[in-house]
Amino acid sequence: MLETPQFSPGLEGVPIAESAVSLVEGEAGRLTYRGYSIEDLTGDEGTFEEIVALLYDGELPDKARMEEMQVLFERERRLTDEQIELARMAAVGTHPMFALQSAVATLGPPDNDFERKVDTVVERGQSLIAKVGHLVGVIAQAAEGRSYEGPREGESHARMLVRMVTGKEPSELEVRVMDALLILQADHSAGNASTFTARVVASTKSEPEAVVSAAIGALSGPAHGGANEGSLRLFQQIGDPIKAEQEISRLLDDKFKIPGFGHRVYHVKDPRSKVIQRLADEVIEDGTQAADHYQIALTVEKVATDRLGDRGLFPNVDLFSGCVFEAIGIPIDFFTPLFAASRTAGWMVNMQEQWESGNRIFRPRQIYVGSAPRDFVTIDDR
Ligand SMILES: CC(C)(COP(=O)(O)OP(=O)(O)OC[C@H]1O[C@@H](n2cnc3c(N)ncnc32)[C@H](O)[C@@H]1OP(=O)(O)O)[C@@H](O)C(=O)NCCC(=O)NCCS
Repeated sequence: MLETPQFSPGLEGVPIAESAVSLVEGEAGRLTYRGYSIEDLTGDEGTFEEIVALLYDGELPDKARMEEMQVLFERERRLTDEQIELARMAAVGTHPMFALQSAVATLGPPDNDFERKVDTVVERGQSLIAKVGHLVGVIAQAAEGRSYEGPREGESHARMLVRMVTGKEPSELEVRVMDALLILQADHSAGNASTFTARVVASTKSEPEAVVSAAIGALSGPAHGGANEGSLRLFQQIGDPIKAEQEISRLLDDKFKIPGFGHRVYHVKDPRSKVIQRLADEVIEDGTQAADHYQIALTVEKVATDRLGDRGLFPNVDLFSGCVFEAIGIPIDFFTPLFAASRTAGWMVNMQEQWESGNRIFRPRQIYVGSAPRDFVTIDDR
């Protein structure tokens, strides 16, 4: 008889890949991309395009490479009229994450066998990173009944996103904040649920569009990317910062899982949330709704840390990110689509790594706990 393997629910502690892209150090509370800390990468000059180059190349881009990336983004983000129309149709009456998932799938080619085209894995991946951002903008305009106004010449990815999603001309500060948010969410090791999904789908030789749309589905859940939306909805529900302490205590008594709190790997405060708080201090203006929500988030941090800190539960990236998105005018339904626009970079670089490491199809096993073989009974005898 075969020995029963040990079962690890949620694959906790089970390595699923060898990766050189990013490193999450749960005890130290550190996140690095190709060895560079996210604190350094989100400095005043950091852009999403720079981080895409770093994730792919393994090195920080020089000026010539940066210019190349800007040209690439401008060229590759173009969509056909049909693709724009389809995305606009998908945006009506459904959550933008579902619209985005279907719009990305419709970018796929007429044939379907990526193995024959694997030498284009970088090209196709980078093209999708540029296009997914554009699609988020298209969906936001359609969801609010605005007409299509696409990317402009010379516009950075972050500026395009803030402008298309909010419908307003962004300030320099808003663009810088968006760049930082995109950088912070671009990758988080191969083991997070959506990147693992991307690797599983890539392992079946699927096309990049199938990989990204599957990963968007995984990201949409409230236990993963959807938590940024969930935390702001909770703060809206609490409404008044004065009520926050009592409300959170009550929710914790009821065993409610606070969105934006807790993490499988981090057992200290998520380093991304510290960077986001730096942005919050810069961009959230006193007397605004975002300021009230941020105040509530700080109370949630205090109350929940007092109650759960000794169990290794602390704020994650999503406790404060919603307040910052809100401060720059992003509608709540678009927090997670913007996360997807950013994480497409991580998914695509992981897809490349998956192929370069030999791309063995994922086929783990189960532990069968069902009935032993038995005789079939015809319907009259049941
Ligand atoms: C992130 C998350 C999915 C990790 O899940 P996990 O590693 O499987 O941990 P579990 O859900 O098993 O939680 C372990 C314990 O901590 C508690 N816990 C975990 N997250 C909690 C939260 N946000 N609020 C309150 N309690 C929490 C659980 O209730 C559980 O308690 P129990 O042992 O008494 O049953 C989980 O912490 C969560 O759901 N957080 C909220 C959603 C979120 O912010 N997601 C974004 C992550 S970046």
